[in-house]
Amino acid sequence: MRGRTIVVTGAASGIGRAVVLACARRGARIAALDVDEAGAASAADEAVENGAPDATGVSCDVSSPESVASAFARAEEAVGPVDGVFANAGIEMNGPLHTFDVEQWHRVLEVNLTGVFLTCREAISRLTQRDAPGSVVCTSSPAAFVGFAGGGNSAYAASKGGVSAFVRSAAIDYASVGIRVNAVVPGATDTPMLLGTEDAHEGLRRIRAAAAEQIPLGRVAEPSEVAAAVVWLLSDDASYVTGTQLVCDGGLMAKSANTF
Ligand SMILES: NC(=O)c1ccc[n+]([C@@H]2O[C@H](COP(=O)([O-])OP(=O)(O)OC[C@H]3O[C@@H](n4cnc5c(N)ncnc54)[C@H](O)[C@@H]3O)[C@@H](O)[C@H]2O)c1
Repeated sequence: MRGRTIVVTGAASGIGRAVVLACARRGARIAALDVDEAGAASAADEAVENGAPDATGVSCDVSSPESVASAFARAEEAVGPVDGVFANAGIEMNGPLHTFDVEQWHRVLEVNLTGVFLTCREAISRLTQRDAPGSVVCTSSPAAFVGFAGGGNSAYAASKGGVSAFVRSAAIDYASVGIRVNAVVPGATDTPMLLGTEDAHEGLRRIRAAAAEQIPLGRVAEPSEVAAAVVWLLSDDASYVTGTQLVCDGGLMAKSANTF
């Protein structure tokens, strides 16, 4: 990772921020992109404090083609040509689908799925213009593969199912030019998204109790644990890995609810 330029979307918080720090500790140059401009700038500052030779925070709405194009241009101007990208920005809106309005549906798909397409398109076109190899990692979810027992997750699940399918096809398209494309599939991870709109204290108590009962490893993930999987996919250690879904979920998807 040393000296490589890594672009991270959703970099201000949670899993994205943990990936920024993990890459910084390995000596990568960082472009931290987020719709939260102040959060992106502070992630970049923290990257430098943690060993990144260079880092920049850039405002970016991944659902807008213009915003993504200008963010990549600003990022490359500041920290050099992109070598790897973590297309991670995402939102969650829940509710039974018959209560969902079309604007909510579109917003979830625009950020989670179109945002991944736009981020990857920008990164891959810049890599191919330079004839450079690269690594692309996209954030999926167990919701791409299984229905959440809590329900109300159709739009989010559809967006993440799309991300996982997108990754498989893109991996085949770019394997011949040395660009690997993979997904990370984090289970329940201790970030603001996990808490949603719940009261922090009560929400955490409820989630920790449910995790201890339902997740084989008995707890939710720390963002740094998911980041370790992402850094591996971004690095040359994963040089023969493309088109895969790296599940990092404490055993959640391996487990059936049946006790008989
Ligand atoms: N936390 C979990 O349990 C969990 C589990 C599986 C998958 N995920 C996925 O991981 C990814 C990161 O989520 P997190 O848990 O770190 O959440 P988070 O809310 O802590 O971070 C998400 C970040 O994305 C940014 N963002 C939102 N909309 C954006 C947009 N339009 N353009 C640019 N940035 C935008 C937010 O400002 C925020 O900084 C998401 O794709 C999420 O779906 C999370």
